[in-house]
Amino acid sequence: MKKLLLIISFLCHICSIAQVSSKNKIISGPMLGQVELRTATVWIEVNATVKTVAVRYWKKDDINTAITETYKGPLGNKFNPVKIEIGGLDFNSTYQYQFIIDGAPANTTALFTTKDLWQWRKPAPDFSFLTGSCAYFNEPIFDRPGKPYGGDSTIFETMAKTPAAFMLWLGDNWYTREVDYLSEWGLYYRASHDRSLSVLKNFWKAMPHYAIWDDHDYGPDDSDGSYTLKDESRKLFKNYWCNPSFGQDDKGIFTKISYSDVDVFLTDDRYFRSSDNLLDSIDGKPNPDKHFFGKTQMKWLENALATSDASFKIIAIGSQVLNHLNKAAESMRYFSAEYYELMNFLNEQKINGVIFLTGDRHHSEVVKEDRANAYPLYDITSSPLTSGISKVRGPEINNPARVAGTLVEQQNFSKITVTGKKGERKLTVDFLGLKGEQLASWSVEEKVLKYQEAK
Ligand SMILES: [Fe+2]
Repeated sequence: MKKLLLIISFLCHICSIAQVSSKNKIISGPMLGQVELRTATVWIEVNATVKTVAVRYWKKDDINTAITETYKGPLGNKFNPVKIEIGGLDFNSTYQYQFIIDGAPANTTALFTTKDLWQWRKPAPDFSFLTGSCAYFNEPIFDRPGKPYGGDSTIFETMAKTPAAFMLWLGDNWYTREVDYLSEWGLYYRASHDRSLSVLKNFWKAMPHYAIWDDHDYGPDDSDGSYTLKDESRKLFKNYWCNPSFGQDDKGIFTKISYSDVDVFLTDDRYFRSSDNLLDSIDGKPNPDKHFFGKTQMKWLENALATSDASFKIIAIGSQVLNHLNKAAESMRYFSAEYYELMNFLNEQKINGVIFLTGDRHHSEVVKEDRANAYPLYDITSSPLTSGISKVRGPEINNPARVAGTLVEQQNFSKITVTGKKGERKLTVDFLGLKGEQLASWSVEEKVLKYQEAK
């Protein structure tokens, strides 16, 4: 018996040494990526010494079902983000997983639950997801002098504890600075640094994460398609996020995710964008050479909207769309040719259920656009997570297009909840503060977002 105890204690000792050694090799993660009915993607970043990475996963509380999947991609580079897609899972099932680094198990195990197969079987499930934009983490040596731009990052601890089906990062997910955006190494440095911060650790594993970008995580402030490192930035984005796909023909990052009866169109407002400073109209007509989405992405979006039968079709964009009074010239409104193309397309095809979900502004609000012979459009803006607050100024203070009671001028994230019976679905947005306290709330019913049927 004594001998057995000795052996067990020796094995525990070896095990704890192995865990310590794997811990030192992990830069950040694990992060949960895309989770579907029978697949899940898990992500981790390891240091340059690591030779092998694998993930072991098993049905929760049944270690006998454990399977190990080994990563087959590159390692040993300056930055080593690793994605592993696990297949062959059961739907509506909870799994535990653990990374194994150079043969040593990491000391963190995490959970994910696959989606439920409700289609053709039961009503579309009610669910919530989290969203937000503009996350700044301070590094004084590289930041602009003066008051630190980054605020209280414990908001991510609150978000980690808020039950939700997934998190959608709405852009400016990190801020590249002069030291970052002039080189590929710099771009990777900023992404890798921010991802590794301990205040985010629980959030990364709490739910699947999806993302779009805006100017600051794509490149410099207000950057567009002329940014010289845009392909390096796209490659980085592909390595640090686990979206289902990334643009088309090796360009852009647009894609679509679905949950229950909701489709979310994740758009790219930077890679194909013309300069904000190009003339918006020439000889009184919208300038056809001033692009926001670009031709390829616009056609994709139009087709994807026409194909979608979702109750709510959420178009997620880094910059605002509907706000007339956003004088930053970043709003899609200032790209008239494509703005009107999209508006006309919605009318001609009678696309129901469209809502815009945007970021960037350093305040949150819901902006409404009344339309003749069409249902009103809404633009939900969610910002900032941790970066500086930008209080609305001038005529925007009393913006008549803002839904009363929705302006939030402090750090916040959004919880979007979809509930209700078929044909009576309701979408509710709660803007929540640092501790999860409700700062504002707004909701809209599916039946409001419908074109009149032709008689
Ligand atoms: Fe931005």
